[in-house]
Amino acid sequence: MIASIASTDAAYVIFALITIGWIVYYFMNRKAARPELGSEQLTAPNRKPYYDDEVLEGKRLERFQFFGVLMLAVLVIAMPLYWVFEPSRQAGAVEHRDSRFVNWGSQLFQTTANGGFNCAGCHGGMKASGGNAPYAVTNPSTGEVKSVSWFAPALNTVTYRFDDSEITYILTYGRVGSPMSAWGVDGGGPMNAQQIQSLVAYIHSIQIPRVDCLPSEKDPLTCPSGHLPPDDQGQIAAAAAQAAQKLVDEGKYASVDDAMGEALFNLDLNSGAYSCARCHTIGWSYGDPGPSGIGAYGWNLTGGAANAHFDSEQDMIDAIKAGSQLGKRFGAPTGQGTGRMPAFGNLLTDEQIKDVVEYVRSL
Ligand code: HEC
Ligand code: HEC
Repeated sequence: MIASIASTDAAYVIFALITIGWIVYYFMNRKAARPELGSEQLTAPNRKPYYDDEVLEGKRLERFQFFGVLMLAVLVIAMPLYWVFEPSRQAGAVEHRDSRFVNWGSQLFQTTANGGFNCAGCHGGMKASGGNAPYAVTNPSTGEVKSVSWFAPALNTVTYRFDDSEITYILTYGRVGSPMSAWGVDGGGPMNAQQIQSLVAYIHSIQIPRVDCLPSEKDPLTCPSGHLPPDDQGQIAAAAAQAAQKLVDEGKYASVDDAMGEALFNLDLNSGAYSCARCHTIGWSYGDPGPSGIGAYGWNLTGGAANAHFDSEQDMIDAIKAGSQLGKRFGAPTGQGTGRMPAFGNLLTDEQIKDVVEYVRSL
């Protein structure tokens, strides 16, 4: 019944009640008011006789003293309680904020059909285990346009590869020349900084939890020394072994061990999330690869230039484990990293990285 009353009607009723209330208040106040003229001479505070000593130093003083003791007791109890509960209150507030960001981020991450920006549509669902993106590529020499399906790498390991500022950069500016468009306002996209931050929070929440974290590193979703769990490691090893066997069968290598480097370089598991070729071989991501390691988004690794940029094989291994960082030296003595070369130290084993580096150095 109440719900059926139009809201403007309700507003008029409230307005009328308030108006009547004010009128009643006005008359009551007027009646109760003292006659103005001359009254201040009788009632001004400095003309009123005050309490005598008996009252002032007796009952009244005691009342104030009691009040003082009461306040002291309140402080004595309240301060330690505050001190005890404040850290957990703060932690709770942070947690509440984080979970709200994750929630917002998950809405943005949804497919278009579910009202999101379709990260899930390209990257393989809400868990982002790797997918495909439709795209059109133009052949630079013939001008021919071809529609292709482009690997959209798994994002459930993306914090293993990139730190938060690098992920924020990728989301804001996208990957030029790939289906990954710029999402941040700074890159010409639709999302503000808060939305990008919420997406990063959501991406954190879907990471494969790491193993081997140090006791001091609390969060298994981001701990710097953690590694991919054995199950996922096993999947990489199995997929690489299978690909290596295929290279052997094709007669390219004499043994699986020898073929391992190239197999890992081109590993297409989880839409190439662990591969090098998706950035270093043009066309690899959409099934039309150019010469291996010729470069694309990542630098050209062929012809010895990359080798010359590192003092030794170990030097290159260390660089690939750590990835590049914005403004820090990477590769050539004058080479400036941009943070776009991912870190592989927490994803691949030392032996796998050694195999890949040996392959890169042979290009
Ligand atoms: C049209 C399909 C498409 C959509 C929509 C899309 N992406 Fe991507 N994204 C890609 C592709 C393809 C790549 C890989 C580009 C390349 O090969 O360099 C990529 C790369 C990325 C990367 C870098 C991963 C890495 O390891 O290199 C991140 C992070 C990412 N996307 C997050 C997102 C988020 C978050 C959204 C939603 C706002 C989103 N993407 C929406 C297709 C898409
Ligand atoms: C997400 C894209 C991406 C992936 C995946 C990637 N790289 Fe890179 N790589 C880059 C970029 C970009 C650079 C240039 C450095 C920079 O911008 O910071 C680079 C630089 C390098 C260099 C230095 C080249 C030189 O001339 O100094 C080497 C070596 C290298 N990558 C090897 C690898 C190997 C090996 C893998 C796989 C284990 C790999 N990269 C995977 C993007 C990528």
